[in-house]
Amino acid sequence: MLKLSKLVTAVACVAASAAASAGQVEVLHYWTSGGEAKSVAELKKILEAKGHVWKDFAVAGGGGDNAATVLKSRVVSGNPPAAAQIKGPAIHEWAAEGVLANLDSVGKAEKWDSLLPKVVADVMKYKGAYVAVPVNVHRVNWLWGSAAVLKKAGVAGMPKSWDEFFAAADKVKKAGLIPVAHSGQNIWDFTTFESVVLGVGGAKFYEDALVKLDPKALTGDSMRKSLETFRRIKSYIDPAAPGRDWNLSTAMVIQDKAAFQFMGDWAKGEFVAAGKTPGKDFLCAPAPGSANAYTFNVDSFAMFKLKDASAQKAQNDLAAAIMGVEFQQVFNLNKGSIPVRLNMAMDKFDDCAKLSSKDFVATAKTGGLVPSVAHGMAIKPAAEGAIKDAVSQFWNDDKISVADGMKNIAKAAATK
Ligand code: BGC
Repeated sequence: MLKLSKLVTAVACVAASAAASAGQVEVLHYWTSGGEAKSVAELKKILEAKGHVWKDFAVAGGGGDNAATVLKSRVVSGNPPAAAQIKGPAIHEWAAEGVLANLDSVGKAEKWDSLLPKVVADVMKYKGAYVAVPVNVHRVNWLWGSAAVLKKAGVAGMPKSWDEFFAAADKVKKAGLIPVAHSGQNIWDFTTFESVVLGVGGAKFYEDALVKLDPKALTGDSMRKSLETFRRIKSYIDPAAPGRDWNLSTAMVIQDKAAFQFMGDWAKGEFVAAGKTPGKDFLCAPAPGSANAYTFNVDSFAMFKLKDASAQKAQNDLAAAIMGVEFQQVFNLNKGSIPVRLNMAMDKFDDCAKLSSKDFVATAKTGGLVPSVAHGMAIKPAAEGAIKDAVSQFWNDDKISVADGMKNIAKAAATK
């Protein structure tokens, strides 16, 4: 009897200490499509295995514009989530508001400085201290293809140049299928546009025009050619494109209704979640003309300052888990991206991911590695929003000449 009561007390003590250290983490994210939801479920699993509680705060809307709006209102009302999917220069804007938590103790203990490419670590730090933690590297300049549609249309393989691309698109049109699955929302218009700029003008031009926002580059010959090519693509989309979500365009390729989609490799998460095999059912290739360049898009979570000690502990555990080997592998296998943590084994990854990993390393050496503007990696949110609007206006209104399109984009780029 005595023994039993001792045991009961011991169990109760363990339970109490677990309860004291278990915390709740509210996570704001926008991963709601098939492949995205499977990926975020892995993060939830890892956090729960550490004894914490995951409070899901999903705001639908690919690319996260809706999530960003909801986040602002939560922070303004003094009730931020523990973690939010924030990336690129927006991390520094939030940090400057003084609302982000300092993650340096976790970063030091887990040796993040030695596990991350310096360019990535710099984005995660504000005034030298970690305030965010990266989950992956997505490549944006991809073209996805349906093997069945290309076969039916008599297209031999994925196009490498713009000439090959338009020749293939003509064949698909003739075969009565949709050449390009497009999502007519400004983030996806710009996703296509930046791949065109990269493929037409090269990485140096991309950097001058879209990252440095140099007025000369924005109004020069390569920009003219980029806008002409961009407009030409529009004649290969279907009439239902306006407003369509990105994953519904991917579904058109998955279902062999459309030949191609210009999209980052989160699209691969959709193909894989639908049971499709890369190299067999669907094909991946760098967007035409952009094989030696790489537009990167690093997803990350910024952590907000919290008062409660158990919640802080849970937040730190989440941050540590995100950079852990286990999470970096399983999450990225589902998400379509590659691990951001250096020196990870790639043997479980498919050929698209292996190519991404190889090109990430190679382009970092040649200068072909550039930040994605469409996905919030390159410029301040205000200028980014303004050029996205100018590009979508050009895309949607054929009456805007290429010369006026260039002027409008250059003017938008000056937004402070
Ligand atoms: C994010 C991806 C996400 C995609 C679609 C991108 O901006 O980086 O993680 O899957 O948008 O929502």
